[in-house]
Amino acid sequence: MVATRREFTYMQPALDQAQTPFLDSLLVEKHRWQTSFHMPGHKGTLEPDPKLVDYWGGNIHPADLVEINGIIDYLHAPKGALKAAQELAARAYGADYTFFLVNGSTVGNITSIMATCGRGDEVIMPRASHRSVYGGVVLSGATPVYVAPDYIAEVGFPLATDPAAVTQLLAQHQHVKAIHVTSPNYYGYLSDVAQIAELAHAHQAAMLVDEAHGSHLAFHEALPASAVQLGADMVIQSTHKTQSALTQGSMLHCNDGLVNVARVAQILALLQTSSPSSIILASIDAARQFTATRGNELLQQALQLAQYAREAIRDMQNLWCYGEDLVGQKGIYAYDPTKLVIRVNETGWSGFEVYNKLRYEHGIDAEFADLKHVICSVTMGDTELSILKLINALRAISQEDSGKPVLNYAFALPTTLPEMVMSPSDAYFAPAKTVSLEQSLGEICAENIIPYPPGIPIIVPGERVQREHLDYLLYIRSKGSGVVGPEDRSLSTLRVVTTS
Ligand SMILES: Cc1ncc(COP(=O)(O)O)c(C=O)c1O
Repeated sequence: MVATRREFTYMQPALDQAQTPFLDSLLVEKHRWQTSFHMPGHKGTLEPDPKLVDYWGGNIHPADLVEINGIIDYLHAPKGALKAAQELAARAYGADYTFFLVNGSTVGNITSIMATCGRGDEVIMPRASHRSVYGGVVLSGATPVYVAPDYIAEVGFPLATDPAAVTQLLAQHQHVKAIHVTSPNYYGYLSDVAQIAELAHAHQAAMLVDEAHGSHLAFHEALPASAVQLGADMVIQSTHKTQSALTQGSMLHCNDGLVNVARVAQILALLQTSSPSSIILASIDAARQFTATRGNELLQQALQLAQYAREAIRDMQNLWCYGEDLVGQKGIYAYDPTKLVIRVNETGWSGFEVYNKLRYEHGIDAEFADLKHVICSVTMGDTELSILKLINALRAISQEDSGKPVLNYAFALPTTLPEMVMSPSDAYFAPAKTVSLEQSLGEICAENIIPYPPGIPIIVPGERVQREHLDYLLYIRSKGSGVVGPEDRSLSTLRVVTTS
């Protein structure tokens, strides 16, 4: 049996979604004013640093309660209030089983691969996956099979995973145990998860979806459907990114079929702290309650505000806001209208410069920027006021003269992926040495090198450093691009596997 497409609407959940069982259990305990000879060491009574009080008020320490057998439920073996909270979440998102996570989607991605792939098993994944997916590959010992980065050079950001590319890879690889896709990606673009799930299941492979940016999708009919309903076996969501959970608060949803939920729980216990923060867990419980009961109404507002902003930006000189115009290209199946991907290069400024102008001249923090774009997330927390402030700031910027020509560039990423000589796991744990970047030609890389933008790894552990990739690294080093992964982030040196 495999997970299948299912009918679901946010109005369906039968359990009482107004309840917050885990949060309530903490409130009862907080108001008992027990005398504690228990962790945490501050005991809720030790006077916090005045600067901390200035930062978050005086109430966080007393609220920082930890598991007490039979009273405050335990993340790694929930039996009471937390179990009930996770059941409510599973019902709200339409999953068969839901885990709360206190280490973000990062731990969910790693777990999804470790739970479905063993050493030497193959996992199909887009090259432009988040680094936590690479973490899952290293820790599981799986062998990645990459869907080549699909991007349009002029657009300049990774797009989506094309089912046709997956079909081709499945025909060439016999040991695929899982397909892991990111949908929506950082820019709000979605892949055809339903079709890819069917392909996966025809090969008895598990369908894993990094939906870090899509925890809100299930709650409004005008949004693309969540992968939980599209036949995915495991879906990872950052409840803190698009809902109201505190940072790190996330969920891992599992559907019956190919996933062994008990094994998933074991892996999560291996990777997550044994002292999970009740504050984060309570915020996940409350975020689910809020979105399940008020999400539809507030997402309606967010969608209207985002649409208003998109149209206003499209009318501004030298600016453009992407949306439906990229759907249908390069595997893009749908887009999330709450993400505003604003192209700014025709102003002459780069995305980074406009990001800084928004921050320092207009008091606005965008989500992130790349060379050509600034990306803003609209959520249930936005109001007419916040959107008007953004529109006014962008209009002012669009009317300024930068004194610079249009910033025209097209990505010229290496045209081939480097040769994989060893699995990422073998290379990551192999004896390694440090050499200068120039000397690394022909060596087997022992670390990830992921330049931002566009966030597509150039080399990962186990791959040979070839001329084309080395030249690209020398080029981005000369431009001072940000790089994630290597020990030496200045890229003067590289860790390579010691082969003799
Ligand atoms: C696509 C994607 N997946 C996973 C993650 C990790 O999420 P978290 O920060 O919740 O660990 C991110 C973070 O930005 C992301 O962009």
